[in-house]
Amino acid sequence: MGLLKNMLVVATMLALSVDRSAGQISIPSRSVGFVYDQLPEVPNVEIAAYLDATCGDSAAVYPTLLQIAEFYHNDRVQFRMHLHNLPYHANSHPIAKAAHVLEDFAPNNNTAFKWISLIFNNIYSINSQATADMTSRQVLDRLGTMANQLTGIEDSDFKTKMRYSRFEWLARMDFKYGCTRGVHRCGYKC
Ligand SMILES: *[C@@H]1O[C@H](CO)[C@@H](O)[C@H](O)[C@H]1NC(C)=O
Repeated sequence: MGLLKNMLVVATMLALSVDRSAGQISIPSRSVGFVYDQLPEVPNVEIAAYLDATCGDSAAVYPTLLQIAEFYHNDRVQFRMHLHNLPYHANSHPIAKAAHVLEDFAPNNNTAFKWISLIFNNIYSINSQATADMTSRQVLDRLGTMANQLTGIEDSDFKTKMRYSRFEWLARMDFKYGCTRGVHRCGYKC
C-alpha cells in the first residue's frame, strides 16, 4: 500500500490528526478549515492537516494529501485542510485570507485547494525570502494576479474582498483553532 506508506510519512512531517469525528470548538458557528470534495454523508474518518501556505514541507506533502483524499473518498474518508499561518511566514496569512475570498467567489469546486496548489507551485516567488524587499501592497498585487489566473476574479473585486472582516476573521479562526489542538508548526524544518 504505497499510499498508506506515504500517509505515514505525512504523519511524521505534519502535525496531522485523524479524528473519528470533526473537531469542534465552541466559538465558530460552522466547522473551520476547508473540506475536499465534501461528502454528502457523515465521514467514517476525517484526516485533518495543518498547513502553512509558504512552508516548503507543507508544499512537499500536499500532493500526497490530495492523492489520499481522492483515493479514499469512496471509503468516506474526508480530508480537511486547516491553514495554520505561522507568524514568521509573513505572506501565509494573506494567502489564507485569499483562500476564503476565492472559495466564496467560486464555491463547491475545491477552489481553496486549487489556490493552495497554485501557491505551492509558485512558492519560490511568494515566500518570505522572495518578497523580502516588497511592500505588503506589492505582495497583494502578486496574489491578485494569481487569483485572477485561477478563478477570473477581477483584481479590484479581489482587493475589496481581501479587506472584508469576515474573511479576516475566518483566516484568524482557523489559526486559533489549530492552536487549541496544540499545533505549533507545520513541518519539522519550519
Ligand atoms: C471548477 O473548476 C474547474 C477547474 O478545476 C473549471 O474548469 C470549472 O469551470 C469550474 N467549475 C465551476 C462551476 O466554476
